Amino acid sequence: MNIRKQIAAANWKMNLSLQESKNLASAISQQDIDAGAGHAVLVAVPFPYLIPVQEILRSKSGYHVCAQNLASVNNGAYTGEVSASMLQSMSISYALIGHSERREYYHETNEILAEKINRALENGINPVFCCGEPLSVREEGRQNEYVEKQLTDSLSHLSKDQMKGFIIAYEPIWAIGTGKTASSEQAQDMHLTIRNWITKQYDADIAASVSILYGGSVKSSNAADIFGKPDVDGGLVGGASLIPDEFKAIISSLKKG
Ligand code: PGA
Repeated sequence: MNIRKQIAAANWKMNLSLQESKNLASAISQQDIDAGAGHAVLVAVPFPYLIPVQEILRSKSGYHVCAQNLASVNNGAYTGEVSASMLQSMSISYALIGHSERREYYHETNEILAEKINRALENGINPVFCCGEPLSVREEGRQNEYVEKQLTDSLSHLSKDQMKGFIIAYEPIWAIGTGKTASSEQAQDMHLTIRNWITKQYDADIAASVSILYGGSVKSSNAADIFGKPDVDGGLVGGASLIPDEFKAIISSLKKG
């Protein structure tokens, strides 16, 4: 039994029709997961598909539907937004927060993301907090301090209880959708940096309970190598999660025991 959950998370982004979503959810839910090894599958879908996909995944233990975002405030005059309390009322218990596309295209800052994390936790939703550096920062060798600042600004106010079993996804921006994957050593280095940050802020037991997923061009051909690293606890998968056989193979690449 792993000390923390091993998670394969699909991020469908803004893709698929309703019928295509249902077909894909049905196809991937055929893949059995090893609940005894603490495996879980999250499927992050566009808001309108949360309920239909939830219906399909409901009967599969260890499978959960996940929102791709939520609002930084709970309710009010915010046209087009969806709040954590609305998600809670729909029994949605996971949400991506701070994906790099939200940071870049919708100007979500570390401070806004701290608010989103708070709204999620107040409403019983498990955040999947995304972090990661752009290429320019990696080229200057400043990736560790960059990611540590993202963690400090958005997460360091959380209590030990809130950080226990938390989920973080490290996604180097230069590897997202580019076909350019970080090497498993680069992933392990950053995941260890993140785990050490948690140890410093909280303690080693809390750090050992946090699932740290890698994202950025994960596919069936590289998943086992990346997931095999000691501090990599699964992946957040975009493009390859839209192809049923690819994502099923990625699920079966999660670390055993
Ligand atoms: P990718 O996307 O797997 O297509 O690189 C990952 C993500 O953005 O979550």
